[in-house]
Amino acid sequence: MKQPILVTGGAGFIGSNLVRLLLNSGESVITLDALTYAGNSANLENLKNADQYEFVQGSITDQNLISDLLEKRQPKAIIHLAAESHVDRSIADAGAFIKTNLEGTYYLLEATRQYNADEFRFIHISTDEVFGSIETGAASETAPYRPNSPYAASKAGADHLVRAWRQTYGLPVIITNYCNNYGPYQFPEKLIPLMITKAIQGNLLPVYGNGEHTRQWIYVEDHCQALKHILEHGEIGESYNIGGNTIIDNLSLVKSLCAILDELHPRKDGQPHETAITMVEDRPGHDLRYALDRSKIENTLHWYPTTKFEDGLRQTAAWYLDHRPWWQELLKNRYKGERLGLLHQD
Ligand code: NAD
Ligand code: TYD
Repeated sequence: MKQPILVTGGAGFIGSNLVRLLLNSGESVITLDALTYAGNSANLENLKNADQYEFVQGSITDQNLISDLLEKRQPKAIIHLAAESHVDRSIADAGAFIKTNLEGTYYLLEATRQYNADEFRFIHISTDEVFGSIETGAASETAPYRPNSPYAASKAGADHLVRAWRQTYGLPVIITNYCNNYGPYQFPEKLIPLMITKAIQGNLLPVYGNGEHTRQWIYVEDHCQALKHILEHGEIGESYNIGGNTIIDNLSLVKSLCAILDELHPRKDGQPHETAITMVEDRPGHDLRYALDRSKIENTLHWYPTTKFEDGLRQTAAWYLDHRPWWQELLKNRYKGERLGLLHQD
């Protein structure tokens, strides 16, 4: 095996897309993943026999395991994606978010601090949610941190730890903050795969609050390309905001998705999918709008996303239509599509 890249959370949505991209571009990869409800070895099934690939099941909270891995495998980089990632679950129970996102990042940083390798880089993956709701304009890398959900707070805390380990111990880190991702292999609890899988099953499509909440979207392959670009060209100690091309409110997004599904998978009763949209109780503490300013990465690293939102949405809907056993297994055994993150139980 060549000197590998260690990807934490490589069995998750973004991680599995990234592992595939890195292997296809000739890199060696080790995945470290605890295989929580969101981690899925099926996401990496066709890579099992790749001779430049190794899977290690374990938690980033296990510092000895990480130290051992670093010592034995001598990776040239860590790309740190492992996290609890769903806001609604963080509202219901924040414990695992603090444990993995905050404590786990600390253990990973500590193990990395003891590891001496030339040209090594630690790429930390974070989110636009650390900046809180951005009512107008877009957040640059210097915007103040104002996390509002337990998830966002745990990621913000992790970002601060990464920054401190750079400032104090000189760790060669780069922080990346991304907007909402969508695409193949996303767990069907998140907005886009939830809507697609519910629509295919003929279920109601629950939009929170008045549907005016607005998110910025990036196709997962664009995100992974950005990560690879930053790994190769990013400047140590810097942070980069990676925003997608589209900022859209949830109701308009779900309507666009319904129109695509009307073409790809018309309802048997001839009604448009849009008729299944139902407005439901809002998420507690729901941030109104996220938006990232990506001029820094465009101007300094000459990177920008290439996938048009309409094309990415269509490819995503087609992928879920073509991969029903993948998500049906998850809906059967891990998550049945119920509402998460309300403060009362009905
Ligand atoms: P995901 O939930 O699909 O995957 C997370 C992966 O981490 C899973 O495979 C899970 O098993 C693993 N994991 C969880 N706890 C672990 C632990 N203690 N030790 C080792 N592995 C553990 O998440 P995702 O959507 O792929 O997100 C990946 C990263 O990107 C996260 O850090 C997330 O905060 C960040 N991010 C996601 C988005 C998005 O829209 N999905 C946007 C911005 C940033
Ligand atoms: P989500 O995919 O959970 O990502 P995040 O909260 O990290 O942005 O939700 C995206 C948006 O969609 C968010 O504003 C909440 C909203 N939403 C719904 O309206 N209905 C749903 O069933 C879900 C899961 C989310």
